[in-house]
Amino acid sequence: MVRTAETYHTPVLLKESIDGLNIRPGGVYVDVTFGGGGHSREILSRLDDRGHLYSFDQDEDAEKNITPAENFTFVRSNFRYLKNWMRYYGVEKIDGLLADLGVSSHHFDDETRGFSFRFDAPLDMRMNKRAGKTAADIVNEYDEEALANVFHLYGELKNSRKIGAALVKARQQKKIETTQDFAKAVESLFRREREKKEMAKLFQALRIEVNHEMEALKEMLLAATELLGPGGRLSVITYHSLEDRIVKNIMKTGNAEGKIRQDFFGKFETPFSLVNNKVIVPDSDEQERNPRSRSAKLRISEKK
Ligand SMILES: C[S@@+](CC[C@H](N)C(=O)[O-])C[C@H]1O[C@@H](n2cnc3c(N)ncnc32)[C@H](O)[C@@H]1O
Repeated sequence: MVRTAETYHTPVLLKESIDGLNIRPGGVYVDVTFGGGGHSREILSRLDDRGHLYSFDQDEDAEKNITPAENFTFVRSNFRYLKNWMRYYGVEKIDGLLADLGVSSHHFDDETRGFSFRFDAPLDMRMNKRAGKTAADIVNEYDEEALANVFHLYGELKNSRKIGAALVKARQQKKIETTQDFAKAVESLFRREREKKEMAKLFQALRIEVNHEMEALKEMLLAATELLGPGGRLSVITYHSLEDRIVKNIMKTGNAEGKIRQDFFGKFETPFSLVNNKVIVPDSDEQERNPRSRSAKLRISEKK
């Protein structure tokens, strides 16, 4: 099959997330997760030539989905460097930022990248193919406790200690190099009927560690908080509870831990007001059409 921007990834909560940005046609916007470019194209369609969109993606594969335009700049970088890049382009304030977190369908469907247990492939999982430790480096190098922590924290797996021990035992026999080596080392720990679900969590946890997803998310959201001008909007789609907690905390309190700060008079100090109090989720039609959207949650806030 020929991969086009459309088959690369189907955008989730497209209308809701972009409506949430309340776009001013002459404003400056950032899409930190370009992917197949679905959300970026929708933002561009609402801008005129005074406006500008900067879109980030750390995966070079996403670059193939670009349609060049005068008011569009693609930044092939991790979004944790948002502030530096905006400074580089001479942008002091932005009017809105969209983040559609995690990986794209392309990552799961590419048989060579190691994101899915559906294919036997080198255990890589890096979104940026040029930098950092691969998933194989991590499972072969981390000690048992560090491995258990990854699966406990990021996969919320109950038997994370046993998983850590099983991986250490397996790698003493033979280096863990492929997705199948990884899956085989732990599969006996999962009950048959839950095996697929548990495997998905296991792979997700390792992917989060490989790509430092939680650290990058916190850094990007704090930079966005500084960059957004008054009335600027933050629209974020998450796919698991850890991401959602960080987004919720920053939108409610301005910090990732969710610590409430009060001024001298006891009044709440927070940089945002919430646009939606309840998370927005895809309707049943979208969930039916696009199963990946089932875990999506959208939060929108406005800079005070
Ligand atoms: C869910 S997809 C976005 C899909 C996109 N909204 C669309 O409509 O096609 C997430 C994308 O963000 C990229 N990404 C994830 N974390 C990133 C990070 N820290 N820095 C830069 N890009 C990142 C991934 O490579 C992936 O292409």
